Amino acid sequence: MENKSERIIIFDTTLRDGEQCPGATLNIDEKLTIAKQLARLGVDVIEAGFAFASPGDFEAVNKIAQIVGTETGPVICSLARARKEDIKAAAQAIGPAAKGRIHTFIATSDIHLKYKLKKTRKEVLAIAEEMVAYAKSFTDDIEFSPEDAGRSEPEFLYEVLERAIAAGATTVNIPDTVGYTTPSEFGALIKGIKENVRNIDQAIISVHGHNDLGLAVANFLEAIKNGARQLECTINGIGERAGNAALEELIMALHVRRQYFNPFLGRPAESEEPLTNIDTRQIYKTSRMVSNLTGLLVQPNKAIVGANAFAHESGIHQDGVLKNKLTYEIMDAQLIGLTENQIVLGKHSGRNAFRSRLRELGYELTETELNKAFVRFKEVADKKKEISDWDLEAIVNDEIQQAPDLFKLELVQVSCGSNAKPTATVTLRTPEGEELIDAAIGTGPVDAVYKAINRVIKVPNQLIEFSVQSVTAGIDAIGEVTIRLRHEDRVFSGHAANTDIIVASAQAYVNALNRLYAWLQNQPQPEEVNA
Ligand code: KIV
Ligand code: ZN
Repeated sequence: MENKSERIIIFDTTLRDGEQCPGATLNIDEKLTIAKQLARLGVDVIEAGFAFASPGDFEAVNKIAQIVGTETGPVICSLARARKEDIKAAAQAIGPAAKGRIHTFIATSDIHLKYKLKKTRKEVLAIAEEMVAYAKSFTDDIEFSPEDAGRSEPEFLYEVLERAIAAGATTVNIPDTVGYTTPSEFGALIKGIKENVRNIDQAIISVHGHNDLGLAVANFLEAIKNGARQLECTINGIGERAGNAALEELIMALHVRRQYFNPFLGRPAESEEPLTNIDTRQIYKTSRMVSNLTGLLVQPNKAIVGANAFAHESGIHQDGVLKNKLTYEIMDAQLIGLTENQIVLGKHSGRNAFRSRLRELGYELTETELNKAFVRFKEVADKKKEISDWDLEAIVNDEIQQAPDLFKLELVQVSCGSNAKPTATVTLRTPEGEELIDAAIGTGPVDAVYKAINRVIKVPNQLIEFSVQSVTAGIDAIGEVTIRLRHEDRVFSGHAANTDIIVASAQAYVNALNRLYAWLQNQPQPEEVNA
């Protein structure tokens, strides 16, 4: 195989490495929703999870393999440590996919060998070779990662990679596990691999990197210049600690600066052919979906998908942009799918109009999801005369969010004001169907609501993040509330949208508590295994 692909392969690990972020835990239906959107976005490979880690992870990988892993869909991949039991679980989980991949890894840096694995280099070499060969007995598409490659001794790394390729690895992935390298160092590492691993032309060189020093994307771009042809990244850059390389930043860098990158892929500089398979117009929607479902907010100044990424505040900039956009804009917001916020529907719009606008926006809902979303749409349209595309997205994302339906919020009522004690009454239906009513006084209306809910759902927790954002401008805008709460050392998130922000706050809290409650019910769980 030529170690040169015609384009850059995008390997999305939002559902595996991204999900390892505290509080990002997604349930199976949410993972499936994201996987479908990743397929629409056009990623080449979805790392759907770590099948051996827990029965839930196995089921998620397996379901994504069944539903999203079609002939024309992306490759579905599962992570596996270099152990037989992990590899076997990965192989079973990806089984239903038309194109499945096993991604197996073992650490190669001396610090990991000494303290984590307690193994010699010789032992690691033998394990890598044996486990890649074992994985190959299940499927042809095998990826091998020498974990902490960024801090591994290059000569040893070359040897491990050569043995892994000889045993059947078709992709060798070079992780900067701790986000330690600088762009020129990372580029040189890839160059060294190309020049010193004798059989490297039989595999694709992939890169994986964490953002501890904020350098992951820069490192990847340097890696491409030196021969890397697969990028492992996540939506919004979510992931362990400071996160992974952000997909949207990589894609737009390759798009906006394609004349610069073309020659490194053996193309004429002026070639207009896209460097990746990604449909850039799906980027914004995917970012919003991942943020809503994981509860991980996108910082306003985040490149590409942050709320301010296309906003011009200074008078000089605004003046320039009005005269010619190119004065201060290097890309058009429409390229990432950030459309004009058109008013599209209203109180009298029917189901068909609702369904067809959703289709135009790229949402294919099941009949049940559509029914639920339509009821919500009517409720919102009653309060807010004009419904825009952004409102529709908020309604749909809220409806397809699959927080376990254990406690149901039936009523929330508050009384507050300058001379009143904020008091809230809530009615909740328990998982057993019993109706429970309670009331509380708080420092403000949201505090009172949360205290009242806590009196019903008696699970100790600490609220660690609460944020309200309005979907559109205007006094009647839908408010989106995202919260994160901690129970012992675990974080759970909740999200809800409503024109009434007190109701949205209550619902977001109940959603997070339902996740926590579901998790508690499943205790004790098998030991969690993190890469
Ligand atoms: O960061 C890392 O090293 C990983 C590997 C499992 C690829 O996530
Ligand atoms: Zn990682």
